[in-house]
Amino acid sequence: MRAMLTGPTQASFRKFATKKEETMTAATDDAVLLEASLEIAAGRCEDLTPLVFARFLELQPDSAGLFTEDDLAVNRRGRMLQEITFLLLHHAAGESYVPVNVQSTASDHTAYGVYDPALYTAFFVAYTDVLAALLGDDWNSAYASAWQRQSEALLSNLPVAALAAAAARHRPG
Ligand code: HEM
Repeated sequence: MRAMLTGPTQASFRKFATKKEETMTAATDDAVLLEASLEIAAGRCEDLTPLVFARFLELQPDSAGLFTEDDLAVNRRGRMLQEITFLLLHHAAGESYVPVNVQSTASDHTAYGVYDPALYTAFFVAYTDVLAALLGDDWNSAYASAWQRQSEALLSNLPVAALAAAAARHRPG
């Protein structure tokens, strides 16, 4: 197929292919950076879950009522952080199942009363803040950019219009 392309078509194909390779490389590099930062954090803290949720509730205190306090809920929070971590790493590595998974997670989360995309953004800010604090002098701008870029990339899959419609349906009155 590539051999059949000539002239401007071939030039624009090459440009497209190069751009795609660059984007893939940036994402793959990010996957390595995300993993490296998580590994350092894992060596310093057995379970990030309470730290990340505490930071999230500092940023979004009104969300405290969404989480229940029993043991089952604590396990659920651990599963939630684990799932978020996998989605982030897999999305950065270019795995194609992730966008649909984010959409269905967001849709399932309306059952918990989670409609506002800002809550998702805040959660990833909380996660990044906790890692930056744990890594201390080992945290650097490459880690910070990878976390910001990949959090934004993951959350660009949120079904914003569907969440707004669901919120409107559940609004009292
Ligand atoms: C991509 C982002 C997210 C993913 C992948 C995710 C995933 C999950 C998972 C796997 C569970 C556990 C379900 C179970 O085992 O029963 C869960 C529970 C929950 N999530 Fe998320 N979540 C995300 C973002 C959020 C955000 C931003 C909020 C905002 C408040 C939130 C609020 C909750 C609540 C309230 C629960 C139930 C916990 C409880 O019973 O206390 N999630 N989430």
